[in-house]
Amino acid sequence: MQSIWRETSDFRERPALSGDITAPVAIIGGGLAGILTACLLRQKGIESVVLEANRIGSGQTQNTTAKITSQHNLIYTKLFQNFSEEEAKQYASANQQAIGRYRQMITQEQIDCQFEERPAYLYSVDREDIPALEMEVEYACRAGIHAELTKKTTLPFEIAAAIQFGGQAQFHPLKFLQAISEPLTVYEKTKVLSVEGKSVVTDRGTVTAEHIVFASHFPFVNAPGYYFMRMYQERSYALALQNAVKLDGMYLGIGEKGLSMRNYGDTLLLGGGDHRTGENKAGGKYDMLREVAALFYPQSKELAHWSAQDCMTLDSVPYIGQFSSSTPNWYVATGFGKWGMTSSMVSAILLSDQIAGDENPFAPVFSPSRFTPGASAKNFLSGMGQAVKGLAKQTFSLPDADAAEPQTLPDGHGGMVIADGKKAGAYKEEQGDVTAVSIKCPHLGCQLEWNPDEKSWDCPCHGSRFDAKGGLLEGPAQTDLEEIPT
Ligand code: FES
Repeated sequence: MQSIWRETSDFRERPALSGDITAPVAIIGGGLAGILTACLLRQKGIESVVLEANRIGSGQTQNTTAKITSQHNLIYTKLFQNFSEEEAKQYASANQQAIGRYRQMITQEQIDCQFEERPAYLYSVDREDIPALEMEVEYACRAGIHAELTKKTTLPFEIAAAIQFGGQAQFHPLKFLQAISEPLTVYEKTKVLSVEGKSVVTDRGTVTAEHIVFASHFPFVNAPGYYFMRMYQERSYALALQNAVKLDGMYLGIGEKGLSMRNYGDTLLLGGGDHRTGENKAGGKYDMLREVAALFYPQSKELAHWSAQDCMTLDSVPYIGQFSSSTPNWYVATGFGKWGMTSSMVSAILLSDQIAGDENPFAPVFSPSRFTPGASAKNFLSGMGQAVKGLAKQTFSLPDADAAEPQTLPDGHGGMVIADGKKAGAYKEEQGDVTAVSIKCPHLGCQLEWNPDEKSWDCPCHGSRFDAKGGLLEGPAQTDLEEIPT
């Protein structure tokens, strides 16, 4: 099912690239980060071309809950623990500036995208979390944000406490994207295959550019940069509910069971069920959200459901800046966590400054070459552990004891099977047709896991995803899965 944003927007089609061209800047990825970067470069008088494998906004921009906020879970506590006070202030200032830049663009260009100023709340229902919330308020204030603790919210359940940030915002991301992309040169259905020096090779021709920006969610180039060793991906789920409630702001609960809530007009967007990509064997994430909706809003009606995929960095701060020390003309914007709207604007401001040769005061905290061992070591080791487990499973393990012949799967279900004498993944359609695919991830070979909520094959190592028939949904993998005869 499509997100409510996609259902309520309509982009004009753009041509695919046809042949070789040159451009001052080539931007890979036609999501919010890529399009905004092209837009701010244009404001500086620098033209660019955007290369999009599918359609504008067809990646994570269409799956967000579209909160524009500098309140990013308990980020200020982490920043003060792992970065300098100066860098913590850079982070706060960059995100506050991003909110202001959205407000300015939308007002000046009169963009009709339901932009509304709302407070943002980070809440907990557990009294044991109060000290952590108090500490976050203290650090957020030291970083320059006006934050305060409150117990007053419009949530339908009692909370222990919540942190309130004023002056935050929400909008319709695709209506905004549609408006700002209008004057830009965008090539759709143009898949980038490789990047070498100043050449971006696509399936439709080559773009030669002085500057190249990777804004494609997860950079697909393994080396240099090695982003696959410095990030993992998470999935989360959302429902759009009619007849639920009108909240005064945007909410997020801390902890694994925390819920995300905001209104879009009279519709409530209810999100949650976060898990590392490739770790949802049991499924049931949408059902969990439906149970929450039935409990608190029994009269509500589900209009849409969808899921999102987020790149998480080891220290919780995005990587925005020079791609690697050996590629001075390459730039990257990735690892936005759950905060893609604000991080996209931060990326556009920072990268357009860097490409134009202008100083940017908050570049150090986002630098992809930063070194934060305190925050990164634990996550790095757990990521490596995950990768080793995924590879070992694929290389050594026999099929699961419950792996069966493909035809024995129930209709509408997927799972591991034995096909052609080998371990494989299979999906049996409602009508009984079966497709079997290799479950060896084409990125670096980890074993894929079936996600029953999305009917997809997901990689626990770096988060690549494939549909039930093996078609590539999300990178860093670049190719489909191999089909196996059944
Ligand atoms: Fe890297 Fe699958 S995404 S091995």
